[in-house]
Order: sequence, then C-alpha cells, then structure tokens
Amino acid sequence: MSDLASFAIRDCRPMEVEVVLELWRQAEATPSITDNANDLRRAVADGPANVLVAEVEGRIVGSIIGTFDGWRGNIYRLAVHPLYRRRGIARALVAEVEKRLARQGAKRITALVEKNHPLATSFWPAVGYGVDSRIIRHVRSI
Ligand SMILES: CC(C)(COP(=O)(O)OP(=O)(O)OC[C@H]1O[C@@H](n2cnc3c(N)ncnc32)[C@H](O)[C@@H]1OP(=O)(O)O)[C@@H](O)C(=O)NCCC(=O)NCCS
Repeated sequence: MSDLASFAIRDCRPMEVEVVLELWRQAEATPSITDNANDLRRAVADGPANVLVAEVEGRIVGSIIGTFDGWRGNIYRLAVHPLYRRRGIARALVAEVEKRLARQGAKRITALVEKNHPLATSFWPAVGYGVDSRIIRHVRSI
C-alpha cells in the first residue's frame, strides 16, 4: 500500500455487504442490532439510505450511512480501516453524504457519537458538528 494512494467515494454495492461488515469489525465500530448482512443489504438495495464506501486501490477501507427521514438527516456507521486513517477519508465520506442528504431535502444533520470514543469525539467537531448538550438519546430495540 502506498501512503499516497488516492481514494474514491462511491455507492456500496449489494455484493459488498460482507466486506463492509468486516470493515466495521476491523475499525472496532461498536456492534449494533442492524450489523448483519440482511439489514445492510436492504439498506443498500432498497434505499433511500445513502450507503457509501471509500475505496483505495480496489479495497473498501471506509463506510458511511446517511439517511433523510423526511425531516432530518442522520449519519450512521462512519468507519475507516485503521491502516487508512488521518488522510481525510472520513472527512470526504461526510462531505459526500451531506451533499446527497441536502439534495434529498435535509437542512440539519445529526451524527450519533459515543461520548467515550476519543476518535469519534475528536473527529466530529473537526468537520463542523458541534455537541448539542440539550439532547439525550432515548432508544428501544423492537
Ligand atoms: C473517526 C474515524 C472515522 C476518522 O476517520 P479518518 O479517515 O481517520 O478521519 P480524517 O482523516 O478524515 O480526519 C479528519 C479530521 O478529524 C480529526 N481527527 C481524526 N482522527 C483523529 C485523531 N485520532 N485524533 C485527533 N483528531 C482526529 C482531525 O482534525 C482530522 O483532520 P487532520 O487529519 O487534518 O488533523 C476513524 O478514526 C474511525 O473509524 N474510528 C473508529 C470508528 C468510529 O469511532 N467511528 C465514528 C462513530 S460516530
């Protein structure tokens, strides 16, 4: 791998879902209830989720999911493989997903960020996402 190898951002393909699931494990993204091939394939194939990947020399090294729910935009599953960090890949993934969400109608975008993950809490302010201290998240898995 060359340090200077450039990357491309593109839509994830249905046949790539296992590779993306493996990327999330390698990136040590916190596992979630939807981290399985069926749910990810549905998001990729049926839309309207924007499931994007970053590719370097044919290898998938980054991912992001952006959704517009008709009211707000939400970002999930931002992850970059440990060997490919700090070269602007996550920044580019966010920029591309923001463009897609804006086109779909989003005016405000939320990123759910684990407050005890220093990589994530360093990254998000660097790309313009401030902390909204008024909000806490209530969740229920059904
Ligand atoms: C967070 C993560 C996606 C960042 O990916 P990345 O491609 O390395 O990020 P970028 O190179 O685009 O970084 C953009 C900016 O974020 C900040 N940043 C990123 N990683 C950082 C770190 N380890 N320490 C401090 N600042 C950091 C910097 O300001 C950086 O700009 P700079 O390199 O010009 O200084 C990656 O570390 C990751 O996958 N972590 C594990 C999973 C995770 O935490 N995902 C986020 C879930 S919300």
